[in-house]
Amino acid sequence: MKLCMIGTGYVGLVSGVCFADLGNNVICVDKDIKKIDLLLKGKVPIYEPGLTELVNKNYKNKRLKFSTNLKESIKVSDIIFICVGTPTKKGGSSADLSQIFSAAKEISLSLNKFKIIVTKSTVPVTTGDQIEKILKKRHSSKKFSVVSNPEFLREGEAIRDFTYPDRIVVGSNDNKSNRLMNNLYSPLISKGAHYINTSRRAAELIKYASNAFLATKITFINEIANLCENTDINVEDISIGMGLDKRIGGRFLRAGPAYGGSCFPKDTKAITSTADKFKTNLSVIKSVIKSNENRSNLLLNKVYKILNNKVKNKKITFLGVTFKANTDDMRDSSSLTMIPTLSKKGAKIRYFDPTGFKKEFLKIKNVLNIDNIKESVQGADLVIIHTEWNDFKSINFKNLVKGKKFIIYDMRNIYSPTKIRNQGFKYYSIGR
Ligand code: UDX
Repeated sequence: MKLCMIGTGYVGLVSGVCFADLGNNVICVDKDIKKIDLLLKGKVPIYEPGLTELVNKNYKNKRLKFSTNLKESIKVSDIIFICVGTPTKKGGSSADLSQIFSAAKEISLSLNKFKIIVTKSTVPVTTGDQIEKILKKRHSSKKFSVVSNPEFLREGEAIRDFTYPDRIVVGSNDNKSNRLMNNLYSPLISKGAHYINTSRRAAELIKYASNAFLATKITFINEIANLCENTDINVEDISIGMGLDKRIGGRFLRAGPAYGGSCFPKDTKAITSTADKFKTNLSVIKSVIKSNENRSNLLLNKVYKILNNKVKNKKITFLGVTFKANTDDMRDSSSLTMIPTLSKKGAKIRYFDPTGFKKEFLKIKNVLNIDNIKESVQGADLVIIHTEWNDFKSINFKNLVKGKKFIIYDMRNIYSPTKIRNQGFKYYSIGR
């Protein structure tokens, strides 16, 4: 099939490349000329393991194209995927849909034959209805069908999550578009993916409800970890003991710092804002948002306690600053709260991250990026393991230390407390 992906971010580029790899002809369109130029040179503007190879393979066999010409790309395609950003509105909670509606207007101007218009971006319930209204201004409803097909891609695992999805959700109100979408996804369905067809609004809500539930699950175990710390219990025992119950499941039960990323914080706010609009109070998700927002300060209070409330001039090293491993994404990373706060209290901060220097810390006083672990911890008073990169999973701390041993605060529970303490280090972690 001929597909047009509007937007070449984490969703549009990954989905477009993977659709091309399934044998479709795909044009990935972006208005950012710099991004398209990079892609045309075989360079991928996002950090996603395996993506560069897949882009180059499909570009070479001419199934994948890049363009800034949205009009032409829409005209030659059968299915148009809207994959633009829906960030949280500045100072509010609801999703900013301006890019969605401008894409819809562009599509309306270029609709030369029947097309399926798919929202793959995460959009609030009834967005599909609003897109339909925009198209109906110029076209009969026979000329298009608006479908919701949310993605469930995790950054760092996006290609795997596309290729082996737990489920494919297609919200469409007509059989023809459902049949075409089922056909598009048939290679994945034949490999065992569940394909479910729902109403369009249900598909829109499934995405938000899924992310909000995952955020709830993480916040739940983070709060249980707080209790474990006060009752001398190991939270990992709780995660295992709970997770073996098939009704609960063991995944997303790892206690850690506040959850971050471009989705959970945005989507939990957006679903509560949509619900408020429909006079429904999602009190559980609202408490999850609040609990997660408090978590960074809670862990900072632990840092102050570890340092006997003497933070000024203390040398603190962060190992990892991205919101999770295998991504260079800093959006809503808990380090964006912790590092500036510690800097304001007079700490001297160094950080090492496998994805390198972060512009987010450029203007923060006494924050230095070091390009290797060994140097980054030299002379440190406290080393904080913030992100669970593989690079941090087999550090021989004893070899790293010359003279006074630094304290270790392992926010990802990577190490065994007994082992590290037997090496003579003061060691703290989460919920243990
Ligand atoms: C998430 C959803 O998983 C994905 O389905 C959706 O399409 C986009 O949002 P992503 O934000 O890329 O994906 O990362 P994810 O792996 O879900 O982690 C989100 C946050 O939760 C990270 O800060 C991570 O560190 C944290 N997390 C995750 C935990 O603290 N504990 C866990 O057990 C799992």
